[in-house]
Amino acid sequence: MNKKIFIKTFGCQMNVYDSNRIFDTVKKIGFTKTDKIEESNCYLLNTCHIRHKAKEKVYHEIGRVKEKFKFKKKPMVIVSGCVAQAENQEMLKREPYIDVVIGPQAYHKINDKIMEYLDKQKKLDETEFDAISKFNFLKKIQNSSKKISSFVTIQEGCDKFCHFCVVPYTRGPEYSRPFDDIIEEAKILSENGVREITLLGQNVNAYKNKNYRLSDLILEIEKMKEIKRIRYTTSHPKDMTKDLVDTYKISKKLMPLIHLPVQSGSDKVLKLMNRKHLISDYLKIYENLKAINSNIEFSSDFLIAYPGEDEDDFKATLNLIKRIKFINSFSFIFSPRPGTSASKLNLISKETSLERLEKVRTQLFKNQILANKSLENQEIDVLVENKTDEGTRFFGRSEYMTPVIFDGNDKDVGNIIKVKVTHSNQNTLFGESINKIEQKVA
Ligand code: SAM
Ligand code: SF4
Ligand code: F3S
Repeated sequence: MNKKIFIKTFGCQMNVYDSNRIFDTVKKIGFTKTDKIEESNCYLLNTCHIRHKAKEKVYHEIGRVKEKFKFKKKPMVIVSGCVAQAENQEMLKREPYIDVVIGPQAYHKINDKIMEYLDKQKKLDETEFDAISKFNFLKKIQNSSKKISSFVTIQEGCDKFCHFCVVPYTRGPEYSRPFDDIIEEAKILSENGVREITLLGQNVNAYKNKNYRLSDLILEIEKMKEIKRIRYTTSHPKDMTKDLVDTYKISKKLMPLIHLPVQSGSDKVLKLMNRKHLISDYLKIYENLKAINSNIEFSSDFLIAYPGEDEDDFKATLNLIKRIKFINSFSFIFSPRPGTSASKLNLISKETSLERLEKVRTQLFKNQILANKSLENQEIDVLVENKTDEGTRFFGRSEYMTPVIFDGNDKDVGNIIKVKVTHSNQNTLFGESINKIEQKVA
């Protein structure tokens, strides 16, 4: 059988990492990847459960696949990720087109499940939490990423139980991968041509293996000559420890953008959410980091219209956004998730929620437009990732993760080069590499 898998991924970066590792795994039983659904005989949907629409998207997506295969033999349909974990048996009942349901801590069993299904044609679900076996298994299967910028999961799961969030239920308790395994994976990636590593975890700065912390991992990866940039996400204010803050004094490769979700600017709402810190704690972290390097910028997630958020609480969020001048941030209206403490609370009206979201986004976008504008006519460092789809210009990212599109040279891919920014919009910087400008002058 000619085995072709089509993988579609929703959700966070950890799902992107997982999808890549799933492919590294199914390759071992003869699968090749296809980007044409119609060509596939195995369709895998890696799902996200964080908001209501995310789940509905899954069923909608399966509907689209059905349509494409209306007059053809159906592919094996696998649903993985956080919806799979939360719904397991329910999914097989609600949508009989699905054949295998597999949760995020069971990916080490995926090849067995596929073979079992192909053998017996019997529907299967596997949603046991077993992070240790998962990572022990994945260690033996090399991460084949050859992208300039790659993820490495170092920690998974969450013990914080914010009242709104499903992650502790879908990803299980906190588990930190062994230090040596992570370093080994980073080395292999650097040999494959990877130049930027983003360390991932649901609470990445809660990483703890023996006496090793996130700061130890950063400083060890820093020693790898080929790795030019290091990032980590997503961190929690509660785990922003002194050793991690101090790493910004030493590290030359740790990027100056910190994604540190605050969710709300009001202590009252933070308490209702069970976030376990105050705004003053957050500001302290901000001030300490700014004192180390004034170029450090912050990005955040904002959860708008959480039950109990009144106008004053909301104003406090807007004021915090103005004060910290967050860039590259995300904002969402609270969506009640089944099984969480906040699932049955009285909702703020849709109209007020949308109004508040709009105000928050307007302020965030303003910050972003101004931050990008301030770089016009400046030379900035860009890690060049690839040519654009049209093949004439290049794509890279600034130190702050902002996409940069510019005229450059093929030899620059994988290098950090100087780009002169000519213009910008809310999301992107445009320009020309200094080399290219010099070539034109010569
Ligand atoms: N661990 C991270 C933290 O503590 O900030 C967040 C991880 S969560 C996958 C990403 C973001 O989704 C959260 O920061 C929050 O803003 C948003 N989110 C989580 N649950 C949500 C819900 N029930 N409704 C809307 N947004 C939600
Ligand atoms: Fe969810 Fe809170 Fe854990 Fe983040 S810290 S993953 S928001 S429960
Ligand atoms: Fe979604 Fe699961 Fe990530 S719920 S945001 S895919 S951890």
